[in-house]
Amino acid sequence: MEKRIHLIRSQIVSQRPHLFLLSLAFAFLVADPFGLSPVGDNDFKPVKNDIAPYKQVMESWHGDKNNRLGLGNLEFVNEIYGPESLEFDIFGHGPYAGLADGRIVRWMGVDAGWETFALVTLNWSEKVCAKGKDSTTPKQWKVESQCGRPLGLRFNKETGDLYIADAYYGLLVVGPEGGVATSLATHVDGNPILFANDLDIHTNGSIFFTDTSKKYNRVNHFLIMLEGEDTGRLLRYDIATRYTHVVLDGLSFPNGVQLSKDQSFLLFTETTNCRLMKLWIEGPKRGTLEIVANLPGFPDNVRVNEKGQFWVAIDCCRTRAQEVLIHNPWMRSIYFRLPIQMRFLARLMGMRMYTVILLLNENGEIVDVLEDKKGVVMKLVSEVREINGKLWIGTVAHNHIATLPYP
Ligand SMILES: *[C@@H]1O[C@H](CO)[C@@H](O)[C@H](O)[C@H]1NC(C)=O
Ligand SMILES: *[C@@H]1O[C@H](CO)[C@@H](O)[C@H](O)[C@H]1NC(C)=O
Repeated sequence: MEKRIHLIRSQIVSQRPHLFLLSLAFAFLVADPFGLSPVGDNDFKPVKNDIAPYKQVMESWHGDKNNRLGLGNLEFVNEIYGPESLEFDIFGHGPYAGLADGRIVRWMGVDAGWETFALVTLNWSEKVCAKGKDSTTPKQWKVESQCGRPLGLRFNKETGDLYIADAYYGLLVVGPEGGVATSLATHVDGNPILFANDLDIHTNGSIFFTDTSKKYNRVNHFLIMLEGEDTGRLLRYDIATRYTHVVLDGLSFPNGVQLSKDQSFLLFTETTNCRLMKLWIEGPKRGTLEIVANLPGFPDNVRVNEKGQFWVAIDCCRTRAQEVLIHNPWMRSIYFRLPIQMRFLARLMGMRMYTVILLLNENGEIVDVLEDKKGVVMKLVSEVREINGKLWIGTVAHNHIATLPYP
């Protein structure tokens, strides 16, 4: 047998040298000896994921002809690093923001500027964690699991306590004066919460929060999307019993979570599947899960406004090439092993980063759309808060907050 293979191989080399070279080059590419591919050393196993057809979503998509988000202002440029989640306390002070360097900071006004409000761990140190503007670059990745990465912030309106979903330290709480936060949940049924992402607080004290994946942590969040894996969960921490329950399992990159104003349902985003989901928690449909909206891009956090409408932050956009890859896991397993950096692979798929923010009613009908198609003001958006005639827009990867008068 071995002899025959040897024979065939030498035949190929002699009769089809170009074919041989091509397959050699291909093998080299797939082996990625310089570690450039987005997949790296990970056990990358793409699967099919459940996403609405490109045509169906994009044909009915009208966007924002006036590109209104392009008129936004960038504030606190290079003073604040990757402020993914923004929050205001019960006195209306703020914003508070969770940063890429692991701190939670609050704005104290023009004179005092930004002040460190809370840390998620005693392990935080200025020397190791405080990398300033570099916190939003891969330089932080090696220390992120030590320093923490607070992604979801919510004040309890009754107590003034701040609840935190941290990608590495799970669910935590800190009092109105700040300090080092107390851990509430790091495990569910004995297994670690690998990637806590966002939370919301029910009026009865229950805390709903997302755990994005059982397989990849935040540094590898791109792999969750590329693989299409669905090990994410929606969890509920019960204040009285201190027990964490699994509410939903098998989700594809569950991300932002928001209860409705009347607490009858909650919305959460599934980033990989480009959609907004609704889980009924009260009334006749209690326990039912519905798709509320299929979105043109990759959603992050959801936040309610005073009218009970929902702001969804979306990074753009879906493309035809991406659709082909989604439906062919084998193609993804080759494509993303190419020793080419992710941003080039994304560009080859026709993806251009820009921001869309959507205002939806509770049935998923579009109330308003704001876009920055040229990505002048915003390229990556994570959260939109509407407070007193102004939108506050967070971003996980840039060093600023965008604001815009609204409506
Ligand atoms: C501090 O870091 C060590 C090692 O990374 C970890 O085992 C420990 O749990 C951390 N301590 C706290 C308080 O989180
Ligand atoms: C709070 O509400 C949630 C959602 O309906 C429910 O699952 C939970 O059991 C409630 N907790 C208490 C203490 O009533």
